[in-house]
Amino acid sequence: MDYIKLRKNNLCVENISALSLAKKYKTPFYCYSLSQLKSNFYNFSSAFKGTKPLVCFSVKSNSNLSLLKELKKMGSGADVVSAGELLKALRAGINPNKIVFSGVGKTTEEIELAIKKRVLLINMESENEAILINKVSGKRSKITSVGIRLNPDVTGKTNKKISTGGKEDKFGLSQNDFIILCKKISKMKNLKLEGLSVHIGSQITSTKPFKKVLTIINKVISKTKINFKFIDLGGGMGISYSNKEKKLNLSQYGKFVKKFIEDKKAKIIFEPGRFIAANTSILVSKIIYIKKSNNKNYIILDAGMNDLMRPALYNAHHKIIPLKKSNKSIIGNIEFVGPICESSDKFLSQKNFSKVREGDYVAITNVGAYGMSLTSNYNTRPIVAEILVNGSSHKLIKKRQSLENLINN
Ligand code: LLP
Repeated sequence: MDYIKLRKNNLCVENISALSLAKKYKTPFYCYSLSQLKSNFYNFSSAFKGTKPLVCFSVKSNSNLSLLKELKKMGSGADVVSAGELLKALRAGINPNKIVFSGVGKTTEEIELAIKKRVLLINMESENEAILINKVSGKRSKITSVGIRLNPDVTGKTNKKISTGGKEDKFGLSQNDFIILCKKISKMKNLKLEGLSVHIGSQITSTKPFKKVLTIINKVISKTKINFKFIDLGGGMGISYSNKEKKLNLSQYGKFVKKFIEDKKAKIIFEPGRFIAANTSILVSKIIYIKKSNNKNYIILDAGMNDLMRPALYNAHHKIIPLKKSNKSIIGNIEFVGPICESSDKFLSQKNFSKVREGDYVAITNVGAYGMSLTSNYNTRPIVAEILVNGSSHKLIKKRQSLENLINN
């Protein structure tokens, strides 16, 4: 079920017309559907129900506290990569024994915090990190549960900038180094090696690379002869941002994982971000100007690349729809741009669009993952607000940053 859609030419978020929200709240703002978030979480869990995984929502994809609290209620854990994300997950009420700490560059302070808060697992990415965690644990007379991130040298056929599983990428350890580190850890008194983790990249829409990774993990496990308590398969499950893009066959992936785990006692962990959050949100924006120039219709929005980085950063496609669709169209070269002083501040080009005027509103779609979490104050613009819709009610879940606060330092 799709909870954000056009109904009789009016874009609705659940039972509320987005136009009524645009008139109430100052644009631009992110607007989420709680029912969509729930539906995604349950769909994800049910695709893997045969393996009963621990689902740790990847907080980097969206760290809004209200959304994290909702996910916690659904039973989600958290995948965190910084002290800030860890504290936010805890503030949302997520139990530390459902939190995994990932990341290639954890600082001593972050390691101390993770140990103090007793997270389930710290996924390590180098020998030196293992030495540091062992030392910090020793000082506190603690034994810390750790995992090692394997770099399987498998890429997910995705955008290069969001691929992490190739041997040239900075992440994890090669199969050989992984096996060597397992042996060394057995001599580190304050570490307990419990996990093997992988994450090969994001927005992956084919099950093939995931299947390949499972085969490689099997190979590595048989070489280490370790019965890992946790096998953390990371995130990366893609969504379809446009009609042309294919959908990931999650239930097929579920079957692969079920077969993979049959002969093992390990608990599977997943760290999905995009799959859970991406289609839960739109970025609502007002058309400031329509400028005809150079054979183009520039539709200049009040949202800019600082509010949504993905098109500028990855050339990512986010469909734009009017909040109120007209029966007439604009035909020609149409370019949706923001007000930022950069040529890359461009969201989308297309050949026709519903007839719109200055002062009308549009929605940039599928922005719930890596939308708000990648915003910045570039051009000294305030961070936008976030609104949550639940059925026929709506509420502000993050206030728009005030100009007062913005100009203080
Ligand atoms: N686990 C680890 C260790 C990760 O590095 C990531 C994402 C995830 C889980 C969650 O991956 P997901 O399920 O969301 O694909 N800013 C980029 C995406 C960067 C992803 C970084 N790591 C974008 O907007 O496409």
